[in-house]
Amino acid sequence: MQTDTVLSAKYNIPVPRYTSYPTVPVWKDMPDSESWKAGILNQLKNDWQKGISLYIHLPFCESLCIYCGCTKRITTNHAVEEEYIRAVLAEWQLYLDLMPHPPIIRELHLGGGTPTFFSPGNLSRLIEGILAKATLHPAYSFSAEGHPNNSTRAHLDALYRLGFRRISYGVQDLNPEVQQLIHRIQPFENVQKATDEARSAGFSSVNFDLIYGLPAQDLDRLRYSIQQSLRLHPDRVAFYSYAHIPEVSCSQRLIDASLLPSPAQKLELYRHGRSLFMDAGYTDIGMDHFALPVDELYQAWQDGSLHRNFMGYTVQKSSILIGLGLSAISDTGHAFAQNTKSLREYYRTIASGEPAVRKGYFLKEEDKVFRKHILDIACKGHTTLDRAWETQLKEWTLPVLRSLEQDGLVRVDGNEVFLTAEGRPFLRHVCKAFDLHLLRTERARLVGNNFCGRPAYASTL
Ligand SMILES: C[S@@+](CC[C@H](N)C(=O)[O-])C[C@H]1O[C@@H](n2cnc3c(N)ncnc32)[C@H](O)[C@@H]1O
Ligand code: SF4
Repeated sequence: MQTDTVLSAKYNIPVPRYTSYPTVPVWKDMPDSESWKAGILNQLKNDWQKGISLYIHLPFCESLCIYCGCTKRITTNHAVEEEYIRAVLAEWQLYLDLMPHPPIIRELHLGGGTPTFFSPGNLSRLIEGILAKATLHPAYSFSAEGHPNNSTRAHLDALYRLGFRRISYGVQDLNPEVQQLIHRIQPFENVQKATDEARSAGFSSVNFDLIYGLPAQDLDRLRYSIQQSLRLHPDRVAFYSYAHIPEVSCSQRLIDASLLPSPAQKLELYRHGRSLFMDAGYTDIGMDHFALPVDELYQAWQDGSLHRNFMGYTVQKSSILIGLGLSAISDTGHAFAQNTKSLREYYRTIASGEPAVRKGYFLKEEDKVFRKHILDIACKGHTTLDRAWETQLKEWTLPVLRSLEQDGLVRVDGNEVFLTAEGRPFLRHVCKAFDLHLLRTERARLVGNNFCGRPAYASTL
């Protein structure tokens, strides 16, 4: 067993969050959209009754939070809402045109950017337009992300009326000093008001996003943020490790790196946060998440039915995810596709009558087997090695697992691999043992003695 300092130093390397496998950096430019459209149709034919998941990316924000790694456009011009909604509804129509029957919607998530940038009236127009040509699954679940500074009672009432029951607020950190440094001024009273209003509007689940590893965060400040947040009793908390990638995110270059906690301090922050959540009755669910035992995420983690996709952890298991809007990702189970990140190109492509997919990946048999291992580890903390793939396992996965086992992060028992309690903070590193694409790339880099490649989308710890 290693000390915290050794572990945090050894594992302080960028690793993907595995909301997909293979991960986005492996995907290539889409040759044409015909094979993508055929894949969607094929999957829908097989699994019509299961229903689909929809993700809608609403990219606008009024103010820039400089730590932010999401795809967003900063503007105070709300005239942009109309054109964007028209384009998203036109994109949805392109998918509807492929389908022989109206789709059954099982899960719908509004992400961003800031969905509550849009007026309640425009959000209603968007969702009503989406639902007009679809039917709802009996177990449907709608959720949205909101910024506590601009989620009004009118937004919450409109979303509730449309069927939304889960809301997720970005809280990040509640210390004024940290908020100044990350350019996100958000007093506790705003979070309290948005949370109280969501509950009185009828929302049954409120999630908070918190980040550890931000500039000037120390144990006292983290404790303050968490204790203040817990006063509001969120049903779930996403406790993200701050991903500092200034070479990719320009705004992060404004962050004074000397104020960031060291890898060992970051691990200490995680451990401290985890113990505060556990003491308050929350349980850790897979990667980054904590939930109360009454929450369906906790129950799914317990009974092994938890699932993971681009929206994070979910209890819904529809076999197809369609992403609408800028940078949105779709997943048919056999292929992934991501929309363009250029607003101009998005509008132009949709107007020409084509889906705005820019990058994508069609999974090979090997990808499907190793994706299952990654999902099992991330959703159940356990996987069974598929010996039909012994050659790949011996060459790539087992050496990594042996090293993880020496560090006490996994236990390997014959064909069974178990994540240990010590391994929880390093879950994504355990997933990486099954990421043959990344392991091959790393070896090729070492052989070529080229250490300067840009990391895959990533975060430390
Ligand atoms: C689209 S944003 C949330 C919704 C809304 N825009 C807000 O800020 O309240 C999704 C979440 O990603 C997380 N996030 C963004 N950039 C991050 C980074 N560099 N490292 C870790 N988490 C990050 C934040 O916790 C954020 O709440
Ligand atoms: S954290 Fe949210 S509000 Fe801030 S820039 Fe990112 S998406 Fe926009």
